[in-house]
Amino acid sequence: MSNLPAYTHTVSFKDTKSPNPDWTYGQGVDTTEEGRKWLEGLQGGFKTIDTSVEEPRKLKGLMMSGIIPRPVAFVSSVSEDGVENLAPYSFFNMVSYEPAMICFSAAFKEGAVPKDTARNIKATKNFTVNIISEAWIEQAHSTCVDAPPDVSEWALSGLTREKSTFVKAPRVLESAFSMECELYQAIDIPHPVTGKTNCTHILGLVKYIHVRKDILNKRGVVDPGRLKPVARIGGISYSKTSEGYQSPREKWEQTGESIQKALSNISKL
Ligand SMILES: Cc1cc2nc3c(=O)[nH]c(=O)nc-3n(C[C@H](O)[C@H](O)[C@H](O)COP(=O)(O)O)c2cc1C
Repeated sequence: MSNLPAYTHTVSFKDTKSPNPDWTYGQGVDTTEEGRKWLEGLQGGFKTIDTSVEEPRKLKGLMMSGIIPRPVAFVSSVSEDGVENLAPYSFFNMVSYEPAMICFSAAFKEGAVPKDTARNIKATKNFTVNIISEAWIEQAHSTCVDAPPDVSEWALSGLTREKSTFVKAPRVLESAFSMECELYQAIDIPHPVTGKTNCTHILGLVKYIHVRKDILNKRGVVDPGRLKPVARIGGISYSKTSEGYQSPREKWEQTGESIQKALSNISKL
């Protein structure tokens, strides 16, 4: 770590054209210089992993480094006895907006012990998910230390509890995008071969969203350049979002004719 260059804070967000804006329907990857370079990698062949025989530890490393970038849910929950808990979870995503729903998965700890977050949510049926921004990643990251139960993750992180509107679990005041969630379903997932349960998948109904006004753009949606979210990219690495590119979604009504023309040209070759 100590010989790594210093962090460059994201000062602005750059939106560019897509990597190959001149691409047309049916055109293969080998039609650009970048595409040809990418395809050279095929010469090395593929390594195919049978997940039913691969060691779980190796699968963990491979999947966590290959399924990237992952957004991070910073989950605040409360136990049945009222003990508050805070932890990051990157097996996380949006499920639906109608109803507003998110999901994340908590692997069991060694000895097949569920993590506090999953146990709390099953018991008290509510939690908050807070999106982490670059400016306070250290504070958020600190909460995954394996501290003894009597040590408060809120206190060690230096983050601020904010009372939620609907749920018992507080939200993180420093988060510019927080969701108050009610447990919809907690699914313990047994391994189809070993029968061993090693993870709980949590589905949460989003009851309220708190979004800081200064990160919204004129259209009322979040500007990634202002939110500065963090993402997980395997191992101990995070990545940031400082550049994006635009690819509008096309409609068959407008482009169908040109797609069919391109396809008929290909079939003539
Ligand atoms: C960025 C980040 C993402 C993580 N994502 C997950 C995850 O998706 N699932 C999981 O089981 N553990 C994940 N962890 C590990 C948990 O945060 C860690 O085990 C934590 O101590 C669990 O706390 P809890 O027992 O209080 O819930 C992640 C850790 C970090 C730093």
